[in-house]
Amino acid sequence: MIKHPEIKFEKVPCHVAIIMDGNGRWAKAKGLSRVKGHEAGAENVRRILKASRRWGVKYVTLYAFSVENWARPSFEIKALMSLLEHFLKREEAEFHESRLRLRVTGRISDLPRSAQREIARVMKATEKYDEGQLVLALSYGGRAEIVDAAKKIAEKVKCGEMNVNDIDEKCFGGYLYNPDIPDPDLMVRTSGEIRISNFLLWELSYSELYFTDVMWPDFNDDEYAKAIHEYGRRQRRFGDVK
Ligand code: IPE
Ligand code: IPE
Ligand code: MG
Repeated sequence: MIKHPEIKFEKVPCHVAIIMDGNGRWAKAKGLSRVKGHEAGAENVRRILKASRRWGVKYVTLYAFSVENWARPSFEIKALMSLLEHFLKREEAEFHESRLRLRVTGRISDLPRSAQREIARVMKATEKYDEGQLVLALSYGGRAEIVDAAKKIAEKVKCGEMNVNDIDEKCFGGYLYNPDIPDPDLMVRTSGEIRISNFLLWELSYSELYFTDVMWPDFNDDEYAKAIHEYGRRQRRFGDVK
C-alpha cells in the first residue's frame, strides 16, 4: 500500500495518458462558447499535474490536439494554439518549481511557428529535470506516428544501413516519437466517449483503460483519484496466467 498524506492508493501508475475530452460540451451546458470550455480545460491541466506530482505519477501524456482536429473551424484552431502558448508561458515557473520536464509528441512542424518556438524554448529550459515529465500530444495521430516510424526505417533499409530481418517490435518502437518514454500504464478518457480517437495506438497495447462521463474541465482530483484506485484493482496479465 502506497501512503499519501491525503489518500491511500493500492498502486500508482508510472505513466498516465489522458484524452482530455468534453470541453465543448461542458461550455455548451453552461451557455458559454466552446473557447471558454478550452480555457477551463487548460486550467484543469494545472490541477491534474499538481495531483500527479503529489501522488508520484512520473509521466503524464495529455492529448491536446489531434491530427484530425485540424478539420475544426479556423477560429477554434487559432484559439487552441494561442491557449497553448499562454499555457506554456504561464506554467513555466511551475515547471521549474517542481522540476518537471516538458516533452511533446506529434507532428510538431504542423504547428504555428510561434507555438513551435515557445515549445522549443520551454523544452530546452526544462530538459535537465527528472522529477517528472509532461508530454503534450500536439498534431498527434497514432497512425501518423506509426507511418512516420515506418518511413524512417524504410530509408535506413534503402541506403543499406539496416536489414529487413532486423526489424522487430523493439527496433520498430525505437523509431516512434519518444522511444525512451515507457508505455502508459493507465489511459483515461473523459466525456463519456468510449473510443481511442487515434491516440497512442502502439503504446496503449497493454494499458489499462478508464472511461468516465465527467467532462474534462470537471475532472478534478477526486475524479482522478477514482481512476487511480480503479487502476489499482486491475490485474495486469500481459497474456500470461496468474
Ligand atoms: C477536447 O474537447 C479538446 C480538444 C479536442 C482540443 P472537445 O473540443 O473535443 O470538446 P467536445 O468533445 O466537443 O465536447
Ligand atoms: C480527441 O478528442 C482529441 C483530443 C482530446 C485532443 P476529439 O473530440 O477530437 O475526438 P472525437 O472526434 O470525439 O473522436
Ligand atoms: Mg471532443
